[in-house]
Amino acid sequence: MKRKVTKAIFPVAGLGTRFLPATKSVPKEIMTLVDRPLVQYAIDEARAAGIKEFIFVTAKGKSALEDYFDTAPELESSLKKSGKTDLLETLRSTYMDSGAIAYIRQHKALGLGHAVWCARRFIGNEPFAVMLPDDVIAAEKPCLQQMVEAYEETGGSMVAAMEVPRDKVSYYGVLDVKEDHGKHVSVSGMVEKPKAEDAPSNLAVIGRYILSPKVMSNLGKIKQGANGEVQLTDAIAAEIEQGRDVFGYRFDGTRFDCGSKAGFLQATVSFGLSRDDLRDELADYLDQLYAHRRAAQ
Ligand code: UTP
Repeated sequence: MKRKVTKAIFPVAGLGTRFLPATKSVPKEIMTLVDRPLVQYAIDEARAAGIKEFIFVTAKGKSALEDYFDTAPELESSLKKSGKTDLLETLRSTYMDSGAIAYIRQHKALGLGHAVWCARRFIGNEPFAVMLPDDVIAAEKPCLQQMVEAYEETGGSMVAAMEVPRDKVSYYGVLDVKEDHGKHVSVSGMVEKPKAEDAPSNLAVIGRYILSPKVMSNLGKIKQGANGEVQLTDAIAAEIEQGRDVFGYRFDGTRFDCGSKAGFLQATVSFGLSRDDLRDELADYLDQLYAHRRAAQ
């Protein structure tokens, strides 16, 4: 019988250089999309998928992220006194059960693969999810939940995948597709950040994974790859070489790359427009902005 996926690793130890100077003191993962930090979106998505244990791989300078999950008794009593029950609800929804959240340090930013490997003792011999909070996915059914349901059919390891323009493949890990089953594809190889002309397809991996515990052992053995970092992609590709199944999953939803400035701004506008309390004001403002722009052309 397949084991249920109940553990997720959140690698948040990166330097976040694309958001300097903000990331000098603010971890990228608690930057806010409308009014919630990126990490809250990831936690909510993980919970919806049945995740019970949340393992954060953090680094120096990320203590604000750890504090975010603490209870806030003073704030609570102030909201209670003033009868702000909605806000009280919102506040309480950020709390984590005792013992459900763990933090481990990555002492040096040696890459995503290395960050995941740092959490190996929490994983043991179980399948696990990896979620990158700077990939935010707007979807009716949360992306990881879609993947868990598909994984219950396929087993193996599974990565979230989406088609990207050919000239953008060099930003991603790219799948070599063996068989295309529509929603999911079986994979015969994976390449990290290939040149457009060398890419086996334009099906790119984004920040959601369900991995077999064997990937963890592979991570312990592989050397630094593209960009001098230990690449998670290489450890997953090793799974295929060792004869185990790896699948790409074409999720339903829109992915925003909130690790980049343009992606973050797009997500802000899109999430703002999806909110009942903000839609009209924001849409009016955007209309005005466009009207000015057109008039100036
Ligand atoms: P990114 O490639 O976005 O790197 O990492 P980054 O350091 O966060 O940002 P930039 O490129 O300098 O702006 C993808 C994910 O992997 C984690 C990051 O925290 C992010 O969630 N990561 C990356 C680690 O945890 N450790 C690393 O050594 C590298």
